[in-house]
Amino acid sequence: MKGYKLLLFAAVVSMLVNAGVTSYLAYFVKNIVNSVFVNKDQEMIKLIPFILVALVLLKGIAFFINYYTMSYLGQVVITKLREDLYDKVLRLPMERFLLEPPGTLISKIINDTNLLQDFTSRQVATFLRNLLTALGLIAVVFYQDFKLAFFGLVALPLIGYLISRIGKKIKKYTGRMQDRLAVVTGHLFEGIKNIKEIKLLSIEGKFSALFKKDNAKYFKEFMKIKKVEGIYPPVVEFVAALIVGFLIFYGGMRIVKGELTAGAFFSFIIALIMAYEPVRKLGQNYNKIQQSIAVAERVKEILDLPDEYSLKSGKEELKAQIRQLEFRNVWFKYPNSESFTLKDVSLSFESGKKYAIVGKTGSGKSTLISLIPRFYDPEKGELLVNGKNIKNFTLRSLRKRIGVVSQDIVIFRGTIKENIAVGKPSASFEEIVEAAKVACIHDFIVSLPEGYDTVIGDGGIQLSGGQKQRIAIARAILKDPDVLILDEATSALDSETEAAVQRALDEKFKDRILIAIAHRLSTVVNSDRIVFLKEGKVVGIGKHEELYENLSDYRKLCDIQFSI
Ligand SMILES: Nc1ncnc2c1ncn2[C@@H]1O[C@H](COP(=O)(O)OP(=O)(O)O)[C@@H](O)[C@H]1O
Ligand SMILES: [Mg+2]
Repeated sequence: MKGYKLLLFAAVVSMLVNAGVTSYLAYFVKNIVNSVFVNKDQEMIKLIPFILVALVLLKGIAFFINYYTMSYLGQVVITKLREDLYDKVLRLPMERFLLEPPGTLISKIINDTNLLQDFTSRQVATFLRNLLTALGLIAVVFYQDFKLAFFGLVALPLIGYLISRIGKKIKKYTGRMQDRLAVVTGHLFEGIKNIKEIKLLSIEGKFSALFKKDNAKYFKEFMKIKKVEGIYPPVVEFVAALIVGFLIFYGGMRIVKGELTAGAFFSFIIALIMAYEPVRKLGQNYNKIQQSIAVAERVKEILDLPDEYSLKSGKEELKAQIRQLEFRNVWFKYPNSESFTLKDVSLSFESGKKYAIVGKTGSGKSTLISLIPRFYDPEKGELLVNGKNIKNFTLRSLRKRIGVVSQDIVIFRGTIKENIAVGKPSASFEEIVEAAKVACIHDFIVSLPEGYDTVIGDGGIQLSGGQKQRIAIARAILKDPDVLILDEATSALDSETEAAVQRALDEKFKDRILIAIAHRLSTVVNSDRIVFLKEGKVVGIGKHEELYENLSDYRKLCDIQFSI
């Protein structure tokens, strides 16, 4: 922090020096004209070039220090902002991600902070520098001739009015433009993510067409801003020319009458002309700052969103093993959907038992288990952990005790070792190997030339679906959870490997709660309890034989599968 204060001090001092020297240069013109052209003073003629060069050098150094320090400080702010945003996004409740395509959120982080970056690193510095310079030069203008200055500055309020009107317009358009850009970025993201499907379905054209449509909308909003930006300088310039023209006429008359020295007049005109540039830039800066405020408001919206932990987390640390997990009359509806996905689900899981959840795709199996780590909360009813409402516990202490291997496996870029240890970075190598053995992936890993140090994920070697699933299972095993949930996590394995993984898991998790969602019924027949879900309702709970006897839906499902 102390270092930043010093930098800020340097930035302010250099800014003052820069503006001061610039104004003094305009003032100095009076000396040049009067001593060189009017008085023909030999001494001064020798001295003036040195003073001039020294002043310009000083101004240049001050400019560099100011530009560099302000950019540095601006970048520090932006870097922090980007990190805060990412932090926040990762901690947002799941519901938030359902309401907005991921690309839009990504765009807000990348495109909006980029725009702000331009703002802090350049605009603020230039704005202040120009403001000081303009003020200094205007002071020179007044000093040289009060009457002339009065007329010269009639223009300023006029120009100021123009600037503020345009600023408001730009602010309005910028919000819209960034929204459009977010949609465009969202498209890109979606297209690249789903590239395989797009190719297979040959819908490249359709995607391009959609992209083109939204890109055109962005283009339109962008051009609206450019139109305003483009009209503005010529108008200001024209007004300025009118004023300067009048001043040359009026000032010239006063010199003729002997009311003004030639030096003062030139210094006046030069100060006025020099003031024009910073004033013009002030206008531009002002508009950019309006633009940045629009974007900053959008960014602030995200930063102000309450995160999952402040919204949902309970106070109590969950210290005991989860021995009992109960769904009591749970109703659940996705925020973006009309109807209930889970209807009056009542279920109880106990440690030491193996559970299976079966049902057609879309019956709500994945949804059901997503309530356990509280990705979502029920609309009605409650979940109980060891007899207490799940909402009492802190999210972190709860999630630490739950392992989920989901349908969509995520491989992070890194070595196999790192990929297995993501949930427990402190794990020893022996523990990692042990987990890999239970997941029946150890033999494959050691067959690779670099073994556990093989890089996988984007840019590394690509694993098959079944290998990825087993890495994910090893990851969950290493976390050593009280509740292990496998959501079709062995679907890509051959039956033999699947059975081996299952045996190893049964052994390792024999005193925990083990919940498996499986498409292949052969893998669930020896569960202690099978839960049959149909359209979000539990229609049967029991052992395989019981369900087969009593539940026609289950029997049908079994008969189809076992006849193959
Ligand atoms: N993120 C979501 N937003 C809205 N509806 C969803 C979402 N995820 C799943 N659903 C809907 O909930 C129902 C149950 O889905 P899911 O739990 O994935 O079923 P299963 O795992 O049994 O195949 C489906 O009708 C599905 O369309
Ligand atoms: Mg599912």
